[in-house]
Amino acid sequence: MISPAGRGVDLMHAMRRVRAELGQEHRYAHTLRVARFAERLAFAHGEDPAKARLAGLFHDLARLYSAQQLLDACTARAMTIDEFERANPIVLHARLGAELAREFYGVQDEAILSAIRKHTVAAPAMSRLDAIIYLADGLEPGRSFTQRAAYAELALRDLGAALRAVLESTIVYLRGRGLEIAPQTRAAAEAFGLPAASVSGRHLESVRLLRASAPPDAAPPLKGFTLPDLLTTVRDAAEDKKGEDFTILDLEGRTIVADTFVIVTGRSKVQTRSIADAITESVRDGGFAVARTEGYNDGGWILIDLGPVVVHVFTPDQRQFYNLERLWGRPAEARAQSS
Ligand SMILES: [Fe+2]
Ligand SMILES: [Fe+2]
Repeated sequence: MISPAGRGVDLMHAMRRVRAELGQEHRYAHTLRVARFAERLAFAHGEDPAKARLAGLFHDLARLYSAQQLLDACTARAMTIDEFERANPIVLHARLGAELAREFYGVQDEAILSAIRKHTVAAPAMSRLDAIIYLADGLEPGRSFTQRAAYAELALRDLGAALRAVLESTIVYLRGRGLEIAPQTRAAAEAFGLPAASVSGRHLESVRLLRASAPPDAAPPLKGFTLPDLLTTVRDAAEDKKGEDFTILDLEGRTIVADTFVIVTGRSKVQTRSIADAITESVRDGGFAVARTEGYNDGGWILIDLGPVVVHVFTPDQRQFYNLERLWGRPAEARAQSS
């Protein structure tokens, strides 16, 4: 299961379970975007990216529960339910989600659980990881509000400033619609030094200033070989075994999972294994290291971790089900690097 430090967790297994648990593709897609942005924020702020990724992946486990299911599930666990939560049961999905992550995914790490718990209404005391998950949830690229991109940019530079900006705009939004503001959100706003809620020019100003000093994205170094070499080796091996729909996704250094995903289809589990074998062998023959391979026995989704490149060999149905292409980016033009 999941180690206390949140490390060594197999991303593929977690994704597989969360995908099955959430059912709804739309929610799963949001979850991956949050995990991905949280990881990037963690990377930028010296927080543990593995923990951020996990917290992101698990943050909405209870989001599809109905109001009554949330109340029932919390009551069954003898969780306290305050007046605001009683009137707005939807917010309970955050605290319940942490319980589900613990019970069903074996997450023991209190930092991860805390971040899941606080992701919806925030809290007066927020750790760096708490802030990262709260911000990643609100600022992931699927959200569509005017300042999203600017705030996301700000979050990469200054978590505190981004937290204040998002809390402030949340309060303004809720007030504008005559909706009740959670006491925890109010307390958070006060604790983070927000005066009466009105979006001041202050935060936008800091966005502009900080943009100018953006550090480059960190990308894992390639030691002694080039990315095109590695991709060519992988493609040749896959095509040799009649792998289909060879696709390269350029993740542009936005994740520590890898710089690049390679996706290829085998018609059957026998074929996916033979493609995986061929890739592993060629890569090793070429002097590249294979960090690990996952899913070989099942064969429906075999992951080969080559460091900067992660290869996914799918059967057609599994490829369609997980749809990494749609969720993780546009195909790169790396195909042209074959020649
Ligand atoms: Fe949520
Ligand atoms: Fe969410």
